[in-house]
Amino acid sequence: MDSTTNTDASTQHGDSAKDAPLLSPPGAATIAPGRPDGGDVRDRERSNRHSMASSTSGSGSGSGSIHSQPTSILMPAEVPREPTGSTIVEPDSVFDDSGRSFHGYKEGKYFLPNDAAEQDRLDLQHAMLMMATGGKLAHAPMDHDPEYVMDVATGTGIWAIQFANNGTRKHSIELGVRLTPSDVTAQEHPGSHVIGTDLSKIQPALPMVQNCEFVKDDAEEEWLYRAPGTGAQLLFDYVHLRMVFTCFPDNRVVMRHAFDNMRPGGWIEYCDLYIDPSSRDGRHEGSTVQKFWATFRHGMSKIGRDMLCPRNYKTWLSEVGFTDIHEQIFRCPLAEWPTDPAQQRLGQYALVNLTEGARGFSWKALGFAGLDAEAKENLIAELRHDAGDPSLAIYHPVYVVYARKPHDWEVEEERTQPQPET
Ligand SMILES: C[S@@+](CC[C@H](N)C(=O)[O-])C[C@H]1O[C@@H](n2cnc3c(N)ncnc32)[C@H](O)[C@@H]1O
Repeated sequence: MDSTTNTDASTQHGDSAKDAPLLSPPGAATIAPGRPDGGDVRDRERSNRHSMASSTSGSGSGSGSIHSQPTSILMPAEVPREPTGSTIVEPDSVFDDSGRSFHGYKEGKYFLPNDAAEQDRLDLQHAMLMMATGGKLAHAPMDHDPEYVMDVATGTGIWAIQFANNGTRKHSIELGVRLTPSDVTAQEHPGSHVIGTDLSKIQPALPMVQNCEFVKDDAEEEWLYRAPGTGAQLLFDYVHLRMVFTCFPDNRVVMRHAFDNMRPGGWIEYCDLYIDPSSRDGRHEGSTVQKFWATFRHGMSKIGRDMLCPRNYKTWLSEVGFTDIHEQIFRCPLAEWPTDPAQQRLGQYALVNLTEGARGFSWKALGFAGLDAEAKENLIAELRHDAGDPSLAIYHPVYVVYARKPHDWEVEEERTQPQPET
């Protein structure tokens, strides 16, 4: 459902040196065997900042060796398995008592793992979200390729790569399939240059996808991207954020960074799962799925995170200065209860995402909620047992919210609008 009417979908484009690389050339990265190689690209200012961050935290970014795992814990089933062909090992990762690995850069900022199992889950989740939101990578009404695109908190980079290059899309549901140059046939947005940022450098550098690059960066820090050639501030035409509801203590900080680094007329877009499940006639009430998410949300609230933040995106975008704000809420079924085959398949994806991913993505949150390791394992086991019950007819809302940075003349018009007499 649209909250406002679209009044102006045009974008303004200034001069820029399109063909030059945006950031410094790729450096070395440690990639698991079987993966197209990756590169660590970052601009000089960031590089300096990161070096300082690494040496302060002692995380040894780029050292090439992964921290050894604690041996005292019970090894979860998902960890010792072979990485798939699309797994990238982040060298400065750190491990916790769940046996999963997490980002080492800015250690402790984010609570979901970054290892092989999580990377597979993210790619599965990408396929799930694509299905749930009508198969579109972008919903904002852009009438031509946005020149500079930022994918904040890009994860495995699967969205960014596909936005840059359509040839990669067929791999979205074939997990672990290695991409070859012959797969890259058609450019989705040949006029775009996409930058994906993340705390974990778990994205591939695909030499055949020239218009996409990745940077290890903290989106909450000042954005320091520079236009090629001129060195002037790089202004984005489209900023994309997906599944970031677990990421930021205050989403407005990132919204402001985006606003300050966008061209007037450019679009920002969110796509996020809403983890308060519903059902057709309330039959999910009292279910394990509901209990699991309530405990998860409670845990995250203990550290000041509102896990239902997608419902506030519209308001916050407006506060930050965006206009033309649209909100669409899709439904993602859980398990195979729908009768429509496509929805059934979506339900299967959602079920695997939840039950297989739960141990990794909820371990810390359940701990914040006060559960010890045994209580966590029990709740997750209960979830795995119960979540597939089709009689519950559960679905999760998926929020898609997009908004436009106003043109200068709109801001001026607004400023000079006669105020009603009081
Ligand atoms: C759930 S994943 C979503 C990945 C991707 N957007 C997608 O939809 O496939 C969230 C990602 O946000 C990243 N992240 C969390 N906090 C961040 C921050 N402050 N700056 C940059 N990335 C961050 C995490 O490392 C993780 O890869």
